[in-house]
Parts: sequence; structure tokens; C-alpha cells
Amino acid sequence: MKKIVVLTGAGISAESGMATFRGAGGLWNNYPVEQVATPEGYRRNPGLVIRFYNELRRQLQDIQPNGAHLMLAELERRCGGNVTVVTQNVDDLHERAGSRHVIHLHGELLKVTSSRDPNNPACIRTLKPGEYEVKMGDRAADGSQLRPFIVWFGEPVPLIEQAIEETSRADIFIIIGTSLAVYPAAGLLQYVPAGAEVYLIDPEEVAVPSGRPVRFIRKGATEGMKELMNLLTAQKICS
Ligand code: OAD
Repeated sequence: MKKIVVLTGAGISAESGMATFRGAGGLWNNYPVEQVATPEGYRRNPGLVIRFYNELRRQLQDIQPNGAHLMLAELERRCGGNVTVVTQNVDDLHERAGSRHVIHLHGELLKVTSSRDPNNPACIRTLKPGEYEVKMGDRAADGSQLRPFIVWFGEPVPLIEQAIEETSRADIFIIIGTSLAVYPAAGLLQYVPAGAEVYLIDPEEVAVPSGRPVRFIRKGATEGMKELMNLLTAQKICS
């Protein structure tokens, strides 16, 4: 059975209605990244950062997984569970679509943690359904202000080791909807074994680091996944 690893970014959730980060209409055009996605920004104005993620969390309640999320979950079922999704996204759309093996490199919107020690497992908790608002004064288990469980720029990415381990065993590596602008996520490509096939689904040109040969499917996530599912079926992958 082939092992499939999928790296996803904001583009896969765009068709569900989540904004991407870069490009026209990207979140970082309206909210300066250094204000809302760095530890320094949080120290300067924690209320603003907490409100920003409350708003993203609220948006999440109104959107659904799209065809691309659903096809990845279907691929996992077809491949006897041998599909791992490594996502840079902080939404839960992969899980809601039915994917069981999801590594969230940049954290999860539906989790909150300590602002003193964000990776302390004792302080990380999942919000209850419908609970999307964190307030100034809400406390983590260690008594510090509760903050979003998001990896901000300049913070360590604790799950990268697990993602590298999965990637280094891939027979097929699929990239969907990421500008490959942010490391260490973009660097995962260098761990893909030499003989593995790499597919990249994105409607725009993406500069691929490391010059590795990649099969481009220049389409949106759902249309691109349909094409890829047909290609994999024709190659009798997991069929
Ligand atoms: P970007 O906003 O940098 O890139 C989104 C990619 O999705 C681009 O390549 C778009 O062309 C593509 N795209 C747009 N619409 C699409 C569609 N319908 N189908 C498929 N692709 C589409 O987002 P990421 O690469 O995910 O980190 O950004 C990586 C990280 O940077 C994020 O996780 C976030 C951000 O700063 C943190 O917040 C730590």
C-alpha cells in the first residue's frame, strides 16, 4: 500500500470561504502580520490579537468543508488510512470532512492555551462547541491569560519533527493551496524521498523551493483534486 502525505495551506479552505493570507484580499493586507501573528504583537496589544482570532473562530462556525477536503478524506478511506494531512491551516475543515490523520503545524483555532507556556500540554484545551470567544481575564490552568493555540512567527513549530518523519516515508506527496512562503513547512519538500511523485494543486504559479520536479495541476483545490483522484485511480493507487 502506497503512503500518501498531503501538505495543505490556506488555498484549500478558500473555497469554503476562509480568506487566504497573501495576495489580493489576503488577511495580512488588512491585519498587519506583526500586530496579530507575533509574540511581540501579542505582548503589545493582547486584546487586539485575541479579538482577531475570536473573529476567525466565529467565521469558522459559518463555513463547511468543500469538495477538496472531502476527497482527501475519501482518499484516506480508500487507502486504508495510509494518508496523512500536514496542514498549515488552523481551521478544523479536514477533521470535519472526515480526515483522521491531521497534523496542524501552525496550531488550531478551536484550542486555547497559556500565554506563559503555550506548549504545556496541561494548559492546552479545546473550546466547547459554540464557545468561540476568549476574553481578556480568561485564565489558563497555570493562571496566565488564555491565548489562542496558534504558532506565531518567531515561535517554535513543535510538530515539524512528526511532519518530517511522515514526509520522509511518502510514496506520493501532494501540495494543495500554499504559497510555500513560510518555513519550516515549505522545507518539508526536501524530505520527500527521491523516487516519490510530487503533485501540486494551485490556480496560481508557485515557486517550488529546491527545484524538485513537481507535477503541477493548475486548478482550484476542488477541481484539482478531482483531476488528481482520476489520475490516482488510473494508476490503480489504492483501488
Ligand atoms: P498563502 O495565503 O500564502 O497562500 C495561499 C495559496 O493558495 C496561494 O498559492 C494561492 O494561489 C492558493 N489558492 C488561492 N485560491 C485557491 C483555490 N481555490 N484552490 C487552491 N489554491 C488556492 O497561505 P499559506 O501558504 O497557507 O501562518 O500560508 C502559510 C502560512 O502563512 C499560514 O499558515 C499562516 C501564514 O502567515 C501563520 O499564521 C503562522
